[in-house]
Amino acid sequence: MYPALKKEIEVYEKRTPKSSAALKKSWPFMPLGVSSNFRSYEPYPLFIAEAQGARLRDLDGNDYVDFALCFGAIMAGHAHPAVVKAVQEQLKRGTMYGMPHEMERELAEEIIKRYPVENVRFSNSGTEATMHAIRLARGFTGRDKIIKFEGCYHGVHDAAMVSVKPKPEKWGSASAPNQVPASAGIVGWENTLVAIFNDLPSVERLFEKHKSQVAALILEPVPMNIGVCMPQPGFLEGLRDLCTKHGALLIFDEVKTGAKLGRGGACEYFKIKPDMVCLAKSIGGGFPLAAFGAAARSWTPSRKARSSTPELTTPIR
Ligand SMILES: Cc1ncc(COP(=O)(O)O)c(C=O)c1O
Repeated sequence: MYPALKKEIEVYEKRTPKSSAALKKSWPFMPLGVSSNFRSYEPYPLFIAEAQGARLRDLDGNDYVDFALCFGAIMAGHAHPAVVKAVQEQLKRGTMYGMPHEMERELAEEIIKRYPVENVRFSNSGTEATMHAIRLARGFTGRDKIIKFEGCYHGVHDAAMVSVKPKPEKWGSASAPNQVPASAGIVGWENTLVAIFNDLPSVERLFEKHKSQVAALILEPVPMNIGVCMPQPGFLEGLRDLCTKHGALLIFDEVKTGAKLGRGGACEYFKIKPDMVCLAKSIGGGFPLAAFGAAARSWTPSRKARSSTPELTTPIR
């Protein structure tokens, strides 16, 4: 280990004994002692006691400036007074009804004002939003395959858990990466084709090789998992054209970029109109809320989809 890093870890361990003890306590009850593999790191993760605005406080009372803001979910800051007030007021009126509420329409309208979509359906997590969007694209087109980019993350459902962070020995060729399921238990990974971000020919090759089989291309317009990588000029436009040419739907996973790159997320920032948009994190302000949106009526379902999924042609009421 580098001496400078060793020294930092010694300081960390001296300042945070309660986090170390908390991990030991939770270890027997949860895998790695945490609720997500992302939260496990050496020598042990910080356990947070509370947070306010841009600051986090750990169990030992150390304060930190929070540059991550829960991957952007807390864009307004921790415990923002407006959010706390609105939630407190709503708590008194009940939290779940299992029936429609007017606030759903209000939020749907707000999303439609900002993003190039006409219909919105809500869900609980970014995982659900991308899962629904992919299923909708498959049902609509009657095709099974999707394209995603190597190293990119779209949640933990099977179609997305391919080539997220593959081990180097599994990468395969630099121009045609392998499809690598992220763990055991993933089925149907053969239908997730893997291209390279900012490499239009790698996408074109997949469309040509799997002609008329690709339902959708899903991407994070600025992928975080591969290092907050900006799309090169013309790349997103090229993807838009390829999807249109091959009858596949373009899905923008704006779980992170949404409401951050601009009021209308990456769609507004890059002036691209995808066929579907997935939102989560910041739209929930720290609560489990997500959404996916699409055009309402401009699509013509493929013949195969029409015959196999008649409900898709039912008018939206
Ligand atoms: C781009 C992207 N898509 C989807 C997801 C999944 O969202 P969730 O954790 O709400 O399931 C994430 C989560 O970090 C994400 O960054």
